[in-house]
Amino acid sequence: MSTAKLVLGGKEHELPVVTGSEGEVGIDIASLRNATSAITLDPGYGNTGSCRSAVTFIDGEKGILRYRGYPIEELAEKATFEEICHLLVYGELPNRKELARFKEGLAKHSIVHEGLRKILETYPRATHPMAILSSMICSMSAFYPWETEEDEQNNALLLMTKMKSIAAFTYKQAKGEPWIYPRTDLGYASDFLQMMFTVPNRPYAITPVQERALDLLLVLHGDHEQNCSTSTVRMVGSSQANLFASISAGVCALWGPLHGGANEEVIHMLQHIHDEHGDYRKTIAMAKDKKSGFRLMGFGHRVYKNFDPRAKIIKKAADDLLAEMGVKDPLLSIAKDLEEAALQDEYFLERKLYPNVDFYSGIIYRALGIPMNMFTVLFAMGRLPGWIAHWMEMRKESGGRIHRPRQIYTGQTQRRVPALDERK
Ligand code: CMC
Repeated sequence: MSTAKLVLGGKEHELPVVTGSEGEVGIDIASLRNATSAITLDPGYGNTGSCRSAVTFIDGEKGILRYRGYPIEELAEKATFEEICHLLVYGELPNRKELARFKEGLAKHSIVHEGLRKILETYPRATHPMAILSSMICSMSAFYPWETEEDEQNNALLLMTKMKSIAAFTYKQAKGEPWIYPRTDLGYASDFLQMMFTVPNRPYAITPVQERALDLLLVLHGDHEQNCSTSTVRMVGSSQANLFASISAGVCALWGPLHGGANEEVIHMLQHIHDEHGDYRKTIAMAKDKKSGFRLMGFGHRVYKNFDPRAKIIKKAADDLLAEMGVKDPLLSIAKDLEEAALQDEYFLERKLYPNVDFYSGIIYRALGIPMNMFTVLFAMGRLPGWIAHWMEMRKESGGRIHRPRQIYTGQTQRRVPALDERK
């Protein structure tokens, strides 16, 4: 299958067909407008391939997710978040020597610039951490050069390490507690936890179980091909905006409740059910009622139509973590009841709506003591290597072409501008 035929206005047009390495088929319509003056229309880009990419493969029907060819289940078992960063950004899992060098680089740059610190201190305490995160990342453009490709390579490393310090400092700032500096002897997840929770004169002891739980969540969020925030990063970067500006835009896109913000909304929803004495039926009924404007948060996915493999792993991890920590969270059993009921309901079955990555992740964040308004920040920290990988790939492969979709115009046809007194 090397071409597809389109008949428009009685005329036949031949369009090239491209096939991906997993047999995915796409019709290349780049020549369509010149040949016919027609465009394709696909609101929400549900069936539009925006690029060719070698970073992540998803088969939503089969529930498959692979980073650079490696199944997510295996990576979750065998790789740390630092290894995932290396895999996504540089293309391969690091060997022992490469990993040591990479970690050294992260440790060397983990301190936040004094100038950035001053900016961060000016935010009112109640500011949402996602607002601070996106603007702090954009502000990095003021402190680090981004003129050359080498600068941008270096900025990728700076971002990967400084983002965790910025995130932890944001939390300390909101609490009015002194900032805790990064430690070079700890892994990514435990360093973040120690910066978040160490209080002077009362050292915070991170257990391996807690470290592993956070690390796992970061690993699972590493990349997810052309989702809303990643497409935003690519879109902004295609105008040749720098890496910081592009990632900052991605953070904003992630913030929304239909995307990364869902992890926070899930806990609000479960808490609400808890306050209603565990009666989840009203919530399910509301989610099915289109007039309510409410959706079951943490349920459904544009791509997964069977199950989200990340959700499966996270559900088990939540069970294990809470058991090992001896924590009994009533929201976990409400989440399980809600899932079970939804998965037996015609509405959800018909539409193939299953729990997604955000359904159980909040339960783990809660058990780790992370406040709700920081959940999406954690999602952003995990997604960062994916954003960087796509930004770099886009810069290399798009041939410098700016992303610029078309539209079908539905407004007024041409009309005369009336004088001020003639207007109704
Ligand atoms: N609760 C109730 N109904 C839903 C839900 C839900 N969570 N999700 C989809 N539907 C319905 C929707 O109303 C529509 O029904 P109908 O065909 O009768 O009009 C049908 O299912 C198809 O939905 P859609 O809006 O066309 O699906 P989409 O691919 O545009 O949206 C989604 C995907 C994830 C935004 C959506 O499922 C949703 O809003 N879920 C809740 C928010 C959420 O959990 N977001 C996190 C996504 S996973 C992490 C990430 O990558 O961001």
